Amino acid sequence: MKRFAVLFTSFYSIAMILSSCGGGNQPAGGGQTVTSNIPADIQTLMSKGEQIYKTKCIVCHQNSGLGVESVFPPLANSDYLLADKSRAVAQTLNGSKMEMTVNGKKFTQEMTPQVDTKEDAVAVINYVLNNFGNKGGYVTLDDVKSVEIKPRTAAPAR
Ligand code: HEC
Repeated sequence: MKRFAVLFTSFYSIAMILSSCGGGNQPAGGGQTVTSNIPADIQTLMSKGEQIYKTKCIVCHQNSGLGVESVFPPLANSDYLLADKSRAVAQTLNGSKMEMTVNGKKFTQEMTPQVDTKEDAVAVINYVLNNFGNKGGYVTLDDVKSVEIKPRTAAPAR
């Protein structure tokens, strides 16, 4: 029985850790508040997002999500990201080449398209929105219905 208690305790703490990543405003220990804005199966989505982040985004936006000063903008606590989640999905899909101000600093480098499907873009942006200290809520496929996947050009941008 002792062994069971230990197992139970560690399972409970894992569950607490997982649920604390999932967004701060769920009542502790209790009824799941499901709103239409929260995607189904958050855990699967988050681990997919994490995997994409660690293979594709980390080189520029870094393990910390803090980016690189003057070159790659931060995703951690980024006012720009948190202001428009659908835009973030669109940029991850189609890239971005403009001047942007993130947390008061200008960035002008190009980000090429990073993923090929909306599903991947939504997964990685949800991961970003809920990691690196962010409590950015969620974005669903439905929210980005109107985002177009632009044709990829073979030639590098001029
Ligand atoms: C080769 C470097 C590079 C990689 C890899 C990269 N980015 Fe970016 N990212 C940038 C740059 C540069 C900008 C600024 C683009 C601009 O100024 O138009 C940017 C901007 C952004 C922005 C908007 C600005 C902000 O800070 O909120 C988001 C969101 C973003 N990237 C997400 C991602 C995600 C998600 C991935 C992985 C799927 C990724 N990026 C991979 C270089 C990169």
